[in-house]
Amino acid sequence: MKMIIAAIKPFKLEEVREALTQIGVSGLMVTEIKGFGAQAGHTEIYRGAEYEVNFVPKVKLEIVVPEAQADQVVETITQTARTGKIGDGKIFVLDVAQAVRVRTGETNHEAL
Ligand SMILES: Nc1ncnc2c1ncn2[C@@H]1O[C@H](COP(=O)(O)OP(=O)(O)O)[C@@H](O)[C@H]1O
Ligand SMILES: [Mg+2]
Repeated sequence: MKMIIAAIKPFKLEEVREALTQIGVSGLMVTEIKGFGAQAGHTEIYRGAEYEVNFVPKVKLEIVVPEAQADQVVETITQTARTGKIGDGKIFVLDVAQAVRVRTGETNHEAL
């Protein structure tokens, strides 16, 4: 299993969720976050303070899928969340050792 962590623009959340549902993603976690990337937030918001880092609101998605589906999830998020402007976000892929569905005790792929 893999976990895909994606930071995206908040207004893209619904479109990304819909696209992920359509490729069979059965669950995900969503958190409202703030962060910065290569531009340290400068060109995304215009507030002077040239040498300060500006934290920009983003939405973080955490999605655990079977390894075979990970590339498709990454591609779907990349295509759906892209505006072509700076701050479109970033995606990380991690290995997942175990998953358990609390209600049934099912594990790993069956727990997703
Ligand atoms: N190296 C990193 N580690 C963790 N999170 C990051 C990293 N780079 C970017 N992020 C997260 O992704 C969000 C979007 O980054 P973005 O500005 O699109 O990246 P970049 O400017 O590097 O292309 C940031 O607000 C931050 O929350
Ligand atoms: Mg940036």
